[in-house]
Amino acid sequence: MTKTDSASPFSLAEQAAEVIARVSGVPRHDIALTLGSGWAKAADFLGETTAEIPAHDIPGFSQSGVPGHTGTIRSIHMENGKRALVIGARTHYYEDKGVRAVVHSVRTAAACGAQIMVLTNGAGGIKDHWTPGTPVLISDHINLTANSPLEGATFVDLTDLYSSRLRDVARSVDPNLDDGVYVQFRGPHYETPAEVQMAKTLGGHIVGMSTALEAIAAREAGMEVLGLSLITNLAAGISPEPLSHQEVIDAGKSAEAVISALLAKIVAKL
Ligand code: HPA
Repeated sequence: MTKTDSASPFSLAEQAAEVIARVSGVPRHDIALTLGSGWAKAADFLGETTAEIPAHDIPGFSQSGVPGHTGTIRSIHMENGKRALVIGARTHYYEDKGVRAVVHSVRTAAACGAQIMVLTNGAGGIKDHWTPGTPVLISDHINLTANSPLEGATFVDLTDLYSSRLRDVARSVDPNLDDGVYVQFRGPHYETPAEVQMAKTLGGHIVGMSTALEAIAAREAGMEVLGLSLITNLAAGISPEPLSHQEVIDAGKSAEAVISALLAKIVAKL
């Protein structure tokens, strides 16, 4: 398979990018954002939405099955003149649609011209002083899916995967932003307390089900990556409280306005 092979995931991403360019009237986007649980409002703060396309109208995308995800792709004209592509539809690894489907949105963003990929998520926190609603920068990841979006002998350097330059920009907006190592589990079940302790022992601080595979694909595509997690809950066993998806959604909702405004300020400076 070559990158121009019509069956390749890259040519599907090219087709998706053509549809986005045609429907939005924007031939090139500068920056792309995947907005996970709690981050959706950032799209409203970024600038003027000039097109909003249902994800299922774009080749390779399907309707998000996860409450808290909007299911649309928006083209936004930012005040600084840049064009942002906001992806409100994420395919999770646990949906069992394959890793190609998981990273299709990232490859589409790259095919749309984006050079920066902002990946956001809602996640569990291992540092016990993080309260629900705390946004944190992802400094690195541990991929526990035992899978990769890279196919064949594709050797991609992941040193500084979560760009220290972009993290510095984020900290110039909010010097209090803490950071941590994101550990991706398969899900969709939340981790056991023992698994959270394992993640902690391995050097992890954040547990989630999305971002690592996407970040790898973004780096393969040559994009700079900024990763941000909203801590929606303390990870299993860190607090005695049991976890529920509704609580994750609720924590996202209450933090949404503040973290979305923060993200928009950061993105304006990228
Ligand atoms: N674990 C994994 N994914 C999550 C969590 C968690 O505790 N909270 C929100 N997404």
